[in-house]
Amino acid sequence: MLKGKTIILGVSGGIAVYKSVELLRLLTKAGADVHVVMTASAREFVTPLTFQTLSGNPVHTELFNLYQEREIGHISLADRANLFVLAPATANLIGKVAQGLADDLLTTTLMATKAPVLVVPAMNTNMYENLFYRHNEQKLRDAGYHLLDPVHGDLACGWAGQGKMPDPQDIIIAVENVLTTKDLQGCRILVSAGPTREEIDPVRYLTNHSSGRMGYAIAAAAHRRGAQVTLVAGPCQLPPPAGVETISVVSAQQMYDAMIGCYDAADVVIKAAAVADYRPVKRRKEKMKKKNASACLDLEKTTDILAELGRCKKKQILIGFAAETEKLVEHATKKLISKNLDMIVANDVLAPGAGFDVDTNIVHFLHRDGRAEQLELMSKTAVAEQLLDRVCSAWQKNNRPDIKQP
Ligand code: CTP
Repeated sequence: MLKGKTIILGVSGGIAVYKSVELLRLLTKAGADVHVVMTASAREFVTPLTFQTLSGNPVHTELFNLYQEREIGHISLADRANLFVLAPATANLIGKVAQGLADDLLTTTLMATKAPVLVVPAMNTNMYENLFYRHNEQKLRDAGYHLLDPVHGDLACGWAGQGKMPDPQDIIIAVENVLTTKDLQGCRILVSAGPTREEIDPVRYLTNHSSGRMGYAIAAAAHRRGAQVTLVAGPCQLPPPAGVETISVVSAQQMYDAMIGCYDAADVVIKAAAVADYRPVKRRKEKMKKKNASACLDLEKTTDILAELGRCKKKQILIGFAAETEKLVEHATKKLISKNLDMIVANDVLAPGAGFDVDTNIVHFLHRDGRAEQLELMSKTAVAEQLLDRVCSAWQKNNRPDIKQP
C-alpha cells in the first residue's frame, strides 16, 4: 500500500525522535519515498545524517538555505506529498500549527501542503493535559488533521502517564489507515478467525494448526477501509487489530453463541475460523490417567456454525473458507452450495506458501453464480484486500442499487 507513495516525515525536537528513525526505516522498507524535514530542536537529538542515510534522500532543515531550495524546493515537496506525518509532534509544534504560524521549514512546508496530515504527539504527561495544549490539539482535529493519541507508560522525564509516542509499527497502521479509501464506510462486517479448542480434561484439548492470521488480516483491512468490524477470535497469539471489536472465544460452542449473537446486525459475514468438527462427549473434571496401551475418546459433532448462518440468512452476504488437501474446487463448491454461501475462499493447505502459520496464501474465489477466480501466491493481507474488493462491490450492489456494477 505504501509503495511509491511520497511521504514527508516532519520531525520536531523531543526524546521520541529516536523512534522516528525506526518509523522511517519501516516506511522506506514498505516502499515509500520519504523526505524528512527536521526542526532545529530535532537536530539536537539525532543528526540529519541518520535520517538521510535511511531515507536515501537529502534531509531538509533550513528555510533560507539556497542550496536546498535550488535542489528541492519546499513548495514542490509539499505539492508532491501523498501524506504528511509529524512524528514526534511536540507541544510547541502543535501550538504553532494551531495558530497558523510558519516560521521555519517544517511549519512552512506543512502550511503549503494539501496532503492529509497525521500528527503523532509525544510529550510530558502534564504538558499533554495542559489546557492550552488541549485547545490547540482540538483545533488541529477540527481542521481535519488525523491525530494518533500518545500511549501511557514511563516517560523519559521521570513521570508515568499518557504522553509516549506509540510504537513505530502502530504508526505505520495509522499511516495505512489515513491513506486507505473508505469504500466500506457504513458496512458492518463480522469476521471469525483462528482455531477452536475442545477440552478433554483440565490438561488437554483438541484443536488444529490455524494461526488466525487470515481472519485477523481481513478484520484489519476491513477496518482500514472504513467498515465497522467485529472479530470473533478463537485462541490466537496475535494482538487484537486496532479499532476492531474483538470477542475472544475458546470452544466451537462459544464461537457459535458469539456469531449468532452478532449475526442480525451484520451486513457481511466472513467465516475464516477453523472450527473443530468434533468435541469430546464429556469433559473430564480430573486429568485422564494413562492406563492401557491404547485409549479411545468418545467424540460428538460440534454445530456447523456456517451452515447454521446459511440456514437463517436474511440479507447478509455470507462468505466461508474451505481448507482442503485434495479435490479443492470440487469440495469447496459442495460447501458453497450446502451451506448457502454467496462465496467461498478455497485454499489447498498443503500447497507451499499456503495454509496455516505462514504469511502467504494461494486461494480460489468461488462465487454463488458459478464464477471462479484463481489468485496467485500473495500475502494474507493482499488476499484480504482482494476479498474485500469483491465484498465491497456486492455490498454496494445490495445497498446502492443506483451504483452500476461493471
Ligand atoms: N465451519 C463452521 N463450523 C464448523 C465447521 C466449519 O462454521 N463446525 C466453517 C468454517 O469456518 C469454514 C467452512 O465452514 O468457513 C468450511 O470449513 P472446513 O473445515 O473447510 O470444512 P467442514 O465444513 O468442516 O468440512 P470438512 O472438515 O469435512 O472438510
